[in-house]
Amino acid sequence: MSEYKPEILFLKQEDVVKAGVLDMKTVLAITEKTFKMIGEGQVINPPKTMLGMPNNENWKSYCMSMPSYIGGDVDIAGFKWASESVFNMSQPDMPYGVDVVMLSDPKTVYPKAIMDGTIITAMRTSAAAGVAAKYLASKNSKTACLVGAGVIGRTMVMAMMEAVPSLETIYLCDLDIAKAQGIAKEYEGKYNVIPCANTEEAAKKADIIVTETTSRKPFLKAEWVKSNATVIQMSAYEIEDEILLKADKKALDNWAQLSHGAGALIHKLSEEGKITEEMFVTLPQLAAHQKPGRESEDELCVCCTYGIGSVDVAVANQIYENALEKGIGQKLMLWDNPLWV
Ligand SMILES: NC(=O)c1ccc[n+]([C@@H]2O[C@H](COP(=O)([O-])OP(=O)(O)OC[C@H]3O[C@@H](n4cnc5c(N)ncnc54)[C@H](O)[C@@H]3O)[C@@H](O)[C@H]2O)c1
Repeated sequence: MSEYKPEILFLKQEDVVKAGVLDMKTVLAITEKTFKMIGEGQVINPPKTMLGMPNNENWKSYCMSMPSYIGGDVDIAGFKWASESVFNMSQPDMPYGVDVVMLSDPKTVYPKAIMDGTIITAMRTSAAAGVAAKYLASKNSKTACLVGAGVIGRTMVMAMMEAVPSLETIYLCDLDIAKAQGIAKEYEGKYNVIPCANTEEAAKKADIIVTETTSRKPFLKAEWVKSNATVIQMSAYEIEDEILLKADKKALDNWAQLSHGAGALIHKLSEEGKITEEMFVTLPQLAAHQKPGRESEDELCVCCTYGIGSVDVAVANQIYENALEKGIGQKLMLWDNPLWV
């Protein structure tokens, strides 16, 4: 009998939380380490495959496959099945994004874990922005304007406060001010979060602006952005073209993904011949110290992200290890004995 068993640890969202996913300091460290490993060539991370429904151009919902292998001391394979649904936005008790992560043993390819990836996504997405801010924001940044008080907005507060030690005030903007007020209340006594219905007013005061909305049209105007601000766009098309075009330092997480459609702003400007890959520094290059981040207090730095599957896999792997250690989750067998070998 083989010593290898196809045992899957199933972790529902509550288990993932118990296993420590809400620890932003750790998620930031894992995110930065994974970017560094990508920069050093220790990660295989094929571009995501998008399954838009009813089609990729006019999707009302989508599922996306995000496989990766992380080598080095991590040595794990896996993928995230990342999904978003416009229908869910109309429901008061359903998240817009719903994600599942699966981990596989690189040697036997036996599945090791299947877990909720929804909170992992929220944490690692904001952590990616946190890493961007660490390398691109002025060390004197005192005020941030976060636009979008949804799931990612909530974790973005944690990531910014953790990654930018000088930060004192966060203006949290949303079309639905009650959502911003709710999150501000959650953080009361911990962080200075001011709910704000007027993005223009908040953006004009901000050293760091992060957009994490479901808007599919640009709303952040170039004239609202300070000349030495750091702007981080988390969705496809939230900032005016001019903001990116005039940026002294342009950064992104992955050119291949963003320049092929889903990264609408980058895709459009590259189709128009206004930007090329060479103009950008990547978050992996920054984390691996292969290229410099902000080089002066006068620069406008702009970063666009679309999300990298290996970061989900790396965070999920840590959650899996924590869960094993703490005896959390439910064990399932793929088979008792394989029918055919
Ligand atoms: N880059 C990444 O890695 C990554 C990962 C996950 C999600 N995302 C993106 O982040 C965005 C937010 O996701 P979420 O799960 O937090 O969604 P959500 O529905 O929970 O929150 C989105 C919020 O944006 C607000 N909003 C929409 N348009 C706005 C506007 N013009 N001005 C101000 N507020 C506005 C909505 O009212 C809502 O509160 C989505 O576009 C999603 O695709 C990016």
